[in-house]
Parts: sequence; C-alpha cells; structure tokens
Amino acid sequence: MAGSALASDTIEQRVQDLLGQMTLAEKIGQMSQVNVGDSYIHDYLSDALRAGRVGSVLNEVNVDVVNELQRIAVEESRLGIPLIVGRDVIHGFKTVMPIPLGQAATWNPDLVRAGAHVAAREAARSGVNWTFAPMIDISRDARWGRIAESLGEDPYLASVLGAAMVRGFQGDDLTRPDTIAATAKHFVGYGAAESGRDYATTNVPENELRNVHMRPFKAAVDAGVSTLMTSFSDIDGVPATGNEKLVRDILRGEWGFDGFVVSDWDSIRQLSIHGLTANDKESAFEAARAGVDMEMHGDAYLNHLESLIEEGKIDVSLVDEAAGNILRIKFRLGLFEEPYVDPAVFPPIADADALATARRAALQSAVLLKNDHHVLPLAADELKSLAIIGPLADTPYEQLGTWIFDGDPGLSVTPLTAIREYLGDSVEVNYLKTLETTRSRNTDGFDEAVAAAEAADAVVLFIGEESILSGEAHSRADINLPGAQAELVERITATGKPVVTVIMAGRPLTLTNIVDHADTILYFWHPGTMGGPAIADLLFGVESPSGKLPATFPRMVGQIPTYYNQKNTGKPPSPDTVVLIDDIDARAPQLSTGMTAYHLDAGYTPLFAFGHGLSYAYFDYENLRTSAEEIRIGETITISVELVNTGAMAADEVVQLYVRDLVGNVTRPVKELKGFRRVHLAPGERVEVDFTLHTDDLAFYGRNNRLMTEPGEFHVWIGGSSETELRAEFRIVDE
Ligand code: NOJ
Repeated sequence: MAGSALASDTIEQRVQDLLGQMTLAEKIGQMSQVNVGDSYIHDYLSDALRAGRVGSVLNEVNVDVVNELQRIAVEESRLGIPLIVGRDVIHGFKTVMPIPLGQAATWNPDLVRAGAHVAAREAARSGVNWTFAPMIDISRDARWGRIAESLGEDPYLASVLGAAMVRGFQGDDLTRPDTIAATAKHFVGYGAAESGRDYATTNVPENELRNVHMRPFKAAVDAGVSTLMTSFSDIDGVPATGNEKLVRDILRGEWGFDGFVVSDWDSIRQLSIHGLTANDKESAFEAARAGVDMEMHGDAYLNHLESLIEEGKIDVSLVDEAAGNILRIKFRLGLFEEPYVDPAVFPPIADADALATARRAALQSAVLLKNDHHVLPLAADELKSLAIIGPLADTPYEQLGTWIFDGDPGLSVTPLTAIREYLGDSVEVNYLKTLETTRSRNTDGFDEAVAAAEAADAVVLFIGEESILSGEAHSRADINLPGAQAELVERITATGKPVVTVIMAGRPLTLTNIVDHADTILYFWHPGTMGGPAIADLLFGVESPSGKLPATFPRMVGQIPTYYNQKNTGKPPSPDTVVLIDDIDARAPQLSTGMTAYHLDAGYTPLFAFGHGLSYAYFDYENLRTSAEEIRIGETITISVELVNTGAMAADEVVQLYVRDLVGNVTRPVKELKGFRRVHLAPGERVEVDFTLHTDDLAFYGRNNRLMTEPGEFHVWIGGSSETELRAEFRIVDE
C-alpha cells in the first residue's frame, strides 16, 4: 500500500494557492464539521457540501456513503476540496484491542503502535481518515470514567505510549491508504476534573500543567500528530476551547504545532453555558481568537465568523490561518490526489495479524496483583473439574470495554469459550453466572455457586465492571466492586478451594474489602476481542503475566488523588510516624508520633503501587551502577542493572527506571519514571539492562515556568515497580 507524500514546501505552496482562490464563506466552511449520524441532516449536507460550507464530517462508516460525500465535495463544489472524515476509533475498529488503560499496562510501545495500526487500517477501509485518539489526559483519579480511555497517571509513560499510538495510526506516510490522521486529546487538564466527575471544573496551576499534564501532548506534537482536540472543561476559570494562552500561545507559539485544532463536540457553543460568553457569537469570537480551527458539531463559526470579521472584531488572517491549518492536513493525507476509498485494496477485517495483535495486547495487559500460595498457574493436567463463576466470564460485548462504536462483539472470544477449548474434554467445566450483572445485588444463586466451587478442583471467578460503568460521562463516586460481588468473593474463597479472581474493569477499583480473601487476583481491564485466549494462556501457564500497573490502586476512595510521583511535603509520612485510627491510645489521644501527611484510616501507601505486577518467574535486580558520579549539563549518564530470572519459567519483565531530583527551584516529585524496557528472560538467564539519560531528560519547569536543568544531587532507582528500593546516586555539576 504505497503512498506518495508531498514535500512540505510543495504543500505550503498549494495551501497558499488554494487559500488565494477561496471566498471567506468557503474558508469558514472548512472550519465546520458536520455529524452525518444526524439523519435529518442529509439533504442539508449535500447542499452544504456543494456550497463549500463543510470541511469535515464525522460518524459515517459506510464506505459507499463516504465516497458519495467525497464525490459531491470534490466534483460538485467550486474548488473541489475533499473532506476529512472523523470517527472515534479509540482502541480498535472491528477488532478491539484492550482499553487504552489496559494497553498502558503492557508498557510495550511496539505493541501499542501495532494495535493502533490495525485500528487504522480497519477504519480506513470504511472511509475514515481521521481518528479522535489517542486520549493522553493524565488520570490520577480512578473515579473518572474516562481513566479507561487514558494511558494512566504518569506523564512519561503516557508520552511514550501516546507517541507510539500516534505513529501506529499515522504510520510514516499519511498518504498510504492504511494510515489515518490522529488526534491528541483533550488539551488540556481534562483528567483533573474535580472529584473525578466528568466535565467538571479543573484547577491546575501552570507549573503542574507544564510539568505533568502537557508533557504527553508535547510528545504527541513531536511525534507529528496531525490534530489536537480541546477539552470540555474550564481550567483555572477559562474553558479550554476559549483558552488563547493554552492553544495559541503555548501549543502553536512555543511548540510550533502546525496541524489543526478541533473543538470537542459542540464545545464552542458551550462556552456560553460555562458562562464565559453571553451567546454563540461571543463564543465563536473566543474560540477563533484562542486558535480553535474547526468546530465539531456546532454552528457558531458558520453563523457568526463572517459578521465578526465584517465588524472588525476578528481579523481575516485568523480565518486564513485556521483554514490553512486544516488544508495542510488534507494535503498531507493525500486527499486531493485520492479522495476515494477502495475497500478491495485492504486486508480483510479481523485478519490473522489483527487477531494476533489483539491477543498479544490482551496477554501483556493483564496484571497479576497477588498470587499467594502460588494458586496460579493452574496445572491443567492435574485438574478434573473447574468451576467458572461470575457475571463476566461469557459476555462478548462487555469484554470490549468503553468506546467501541464499531467494535464487533461477534468477533469476541470469551474466557469461558477459550478455557473450554483449551481444556477439551478431559476437564469438566461447570459455568455459573450467579449474578446477572456486576451491579446485581441478588444473592439467590450464591449457595449453588458455593456448592459448585466445593465440587470443583479449582475455581476461576470473573467479576468487575460492565463496560457501561466507565467511559465518557460514566464516573463513579464509589469504586468498590459493584453489587454483591465482594460478598461472592468472600463466599467462594471461604470454601478453601484454589480460587483465581479475574477482574475485568475500566478503572482501578478499590479492592480492600476482597484483598484479604482472594489469594490470587489477576487484573484484566477490559481486554478486547481476544481476551478469552489470552486469559486461558495465563491461567494455565502457557504464558506468564507481565503487565504492570499504569495507575495507582488506592485502598479507599478518600485517598484520591493517589499517584506515585507525589511531592515530598514538609512532613512526609514514614512507618515511624503513622498511628492508625485503631491504634490511638485512648489515654493519650494526642499522638506522640503522627503529625505527617497521611490519613488516620488509610495510612499513606496505596493498595497496589504504580508499576506493580507479579510474574510466574522471579526476577532479581543486582549491581545497580552509574557510568559516572557526576556529569555536566549537556552530558549523558548511563545507569545499568543486572536482571536475573531465578524462576522456573521464561517470562517478560518490565524494567523501570526512576529518578529523584533532591533539591529544586520548585518542589520535585519523590520519584519520576524516566525509562522502562520490556525484556524476555529464560529461566536462569542474566541480562544487563542499560538506560542512558541526557541532562535534558531531567529538565523541568521552574518557578518562572521556563524549562530548566539544575545542578545538584539525584537519586536513581531501577526495579520492577515504583516501590523498588535499589538505589544509586549521581550529581549534575555546573558547566
Ligand atoms: C466527545 C468526547 O469528549 C470526545 O473525546 C469525542 O472524540 C467526541 N465526543 C466525538 O465523539
């Protein structure tokens, strides 16, 4: 599938030539996106296309309809400008990969990139040439439903994986038929919604915005992302869609972004609902001034930009710039050369490569949270009977997770199907759903489930959250297992049988009420089309779990926001200072210790830390060393460790590098991820893993919000989770 990208100076010339021929109305038309899904709109749409009043459509995936819309735009409008066709292709099209948070748990950029490429080629076959992904909002709040769609809490992990997704969607050449333009969203701070309530206000100071929330966006821009989408929220009092400082000054001015910026769904008109503007006309003014190039599903630009220009409130150069940004991406996509899609040139949907990628992604996304008494892996040849219990063992739709407009549940292989297939006739598999949904409180089936568990050699529980419990506008204030599931875990584990608890969910759940009952917990997010075969491989030890948490698991919801890279505070807690509520001495309630930053009823540690994930192998980290004791600004340092697989099984390990800058111009996190690598080790194998850091990798935004690298002391850790204690030191000295 060869493409033929145009040189950038040729593209700039063609953009300028075309702008020179366009009327003001046609330029504003490019800035307008219409939802084809609104059926009433079809007649309007054809006429508007002919008049050059539409730059983009979204939500049409019938390739014949898309080709016809393109034909009208190209053949029946005055200048024949093709459409850019958008769709939310978030973690797959027909073949569905794990939810993005699950993909983040793979810590595998090559695999994330491969998954996005499968999604791109399946979507492109339907006429889509632009996806609204990746979502790279930093998410430190598991209540927020959209954490499912995110790459987790860490700016570095989200930067690396977000850039990989951009490259997967866009490939090296956007003119190829099997690549589509990507969108980094939602610029910016959307994940910081107050109390995790979707769309709620965000208040993120500029320093944290730059050091944390903006970093994945900068990485996406550096990876060549074609478009950005603004966030729905207001941030520090100004909604992102009308935020000139964020979009025009930082994104374009500082970072030099030359693609286009699209609003979120109707978020320009919503500026007046926020109370920033009094009407649609003022909203169009604020958004255009901020630098939002295209309006998604709304008509503020169409109805008001022309008069704003006539009245001298907006300079026509703003419209030239916006239309030019959109045309530039259309040229890069090669749409002027080939606006039509021929499905025959594509591989079939869900071909062997797509399914293998989905299976590998599901496999590597699973995080083994605990495995006491080595319940896992199950020895299939020693089993005579297996009980499979729970509401999510056989739900083809639910395992796909949120945001699967086009995902095909008919392709899903469920855990129940795959386990039965793996075990064949030699093991009796007894399946009981027991709870109709994860939310069900009806415990009528519990006695029967307990009897089935008692009669079996081992039990696998499939519990968690249906897909509807996470995603956009699906936030929760209580993130315990819903319904009567915790009670089910308690009843089944009380049988004393080996029980594996597999949790499928769109977020980190608070598992405090089951964690002491359940010996073995395998966290499987929403694993996508091939969740079944992946879980069968993991349960029976064909493969070892190798996922690592991309987000901290709080003990209880009141700890949120919980994240590993927090600040030290002036009163950091430690085991010596923590007195928990039950240990307060009634005779001396004024604690002799305490007075540090912790909760009386939760302490200060999470239930499971960022980066945590067990394996069937055992990994020892030895001989941590640095290539120098000190380096100058502008130099690099290499940090090395030896990793040994002391277990009996070959497995992948995700080796993680963390750094702490001890003294800073602004307070610095207690640990920051700065590198990671997934390595495969045979039993007994020893490898050296090296990371090279440039002093630029240690730069941060200081008090004046300028990027700086400071001389001083650094601690560096390498290990298998953010809780690693294997540490070395180095210094940066003045030039
Ligand atoms: C609203 C969501 O916030 C955004 O992420 C999505 O791309 C648009 N709707 C289009 O569906």
